[in-house]
Amino acid sequence: MSQNQVQKILESYNDRAPLTEASTIPAPWYVDPRIGELENQTVFSGTWQMVGRTDQVEKPGQFVTASVAGEPIVVVRGNDGMLRGFYNVCRHHAAAVVIEACGQATILHCPYHGWNYGLDGSLKGMPEFDGVKNFDRQQNGLVPVKADVWEKFVFVNLDPRAAPLQQFLGGLVKRVAPLGVSKLHYFDTRSYDIHCNWKVFVDNYLDGGYHVPHLHKGLSSVLDYKEYTIENEDRYCLQSSPMVASDEDAATGATRKGDRAWYFWQYPNLMINCYEGYMDTNLVLPVDADRCRVIFDFYFADVSEAQREHNQQSVAVGARVQDEDLGICEAVQRGLKSRAYGAGRLSVRREAGEHLFHRLLAADLKGGIETTVAAAD
Ligand code: FES
Ligand SMILES: [Fe+2]
Repeated sequence: MSQNQVQKILESYNDRAPLTEASTIPAPWYVDPRIGELENQTVFSGTWQMVGRTDQVEKPGQFVTASVAGEPIVVVRGNDGMLRGFYNVCRHHAAAVVIEACGQATILHCPYHGWNYGLDGSLKGMPEFDGVKNFDRQQNGLVPVKADVWEKFVFVNLDPRAAPLQQFLGGLVKRVAPLGVSKLHYFDTRSYDIHCNWKVFVDNYLDGGYHVPHLHKGLSSVLDYKEYTIENEDRYCLQSSPMVASDEDAATGATRKGDRAWYFWQYPNLMINCYEGYMDTNLVLPVDADRCRVIFDFYFADVSEAQREHNQQSVAVGARVQDEDLGICEAVQRGLKSRAYGAGRLSVRREAGEHLFHRLLAADLKGGIETTVAAAD
């Protein structure tokens, strides 16, 4: 019964309509917890998910932990220089082995009963375990998960059959390469808890600047809005705009520079925003149907003490734009629950990115439910 209802919700979106005819995904996609569950099983368990930065796992023993589709994950650099991902779940009684967000260790030591794992995941020792029969230590290492890096970022993929990261990223790799983001240095993180479905935040990002003149007056003053371009390819959308000099808003003018602004979105939940000597990433993590957490990492070409104040000002400009988006995203979530709303149409000039997002999502969810239905038969 419930499966049928989910299927009905999925079928209510037509993913074959061209942009000129297309609607957004319907409101239940944003509010029904069963869609959220299906997203965890398909979208977030089948795509490469960013879990950290390469500078966090440079040296042997350095690690980052994360939660992907509700699964505890740890990625650690081995003594052999290899980066490996594991489920951060002790093989004894399922405690999290690594409890810090990031750090460095010589051995992975479970805090519960003291089992030890090597940096390669192998089980090294179990206190007071003499006399246990038919227990194969070789078979009780941490369970591995695919991990890889691209530019400044560490990714994992829970699907053992997933295509390699570079293949998943597709054309994005070539488009980002000339921007030289790997020369930038991490500076700071800001994290936001927002009362909206994670897809509302992504939609807001992908509206091709549609909301910028209305909602972000400061940002709007440095972008040549009429020349704003939107390109879809593979699983990414690039929104880009020529920059114009402006003294309308001094803080924005001083911290958002260069010839062009580059806004990359990679399906499903990663954004990379670049200006000259500047990058921020936005990682959108679902919490439940009504809530998400968005993590912003800020990077700059120069993170010396002399530049500190300028960089802080730049982060503050980003935070202001974010505050402007936050209120509107929460209003949208309330509106999506209204009996007055079903789905909306898309601007052909502006909203091609959202159209790509909704079709990729529909393909994953519709494919996913077929698999679960088949498995239940
Ligand atoms: S759960 Fe890890 S040692 Fe018992
Ligand atoms: Fe915005």
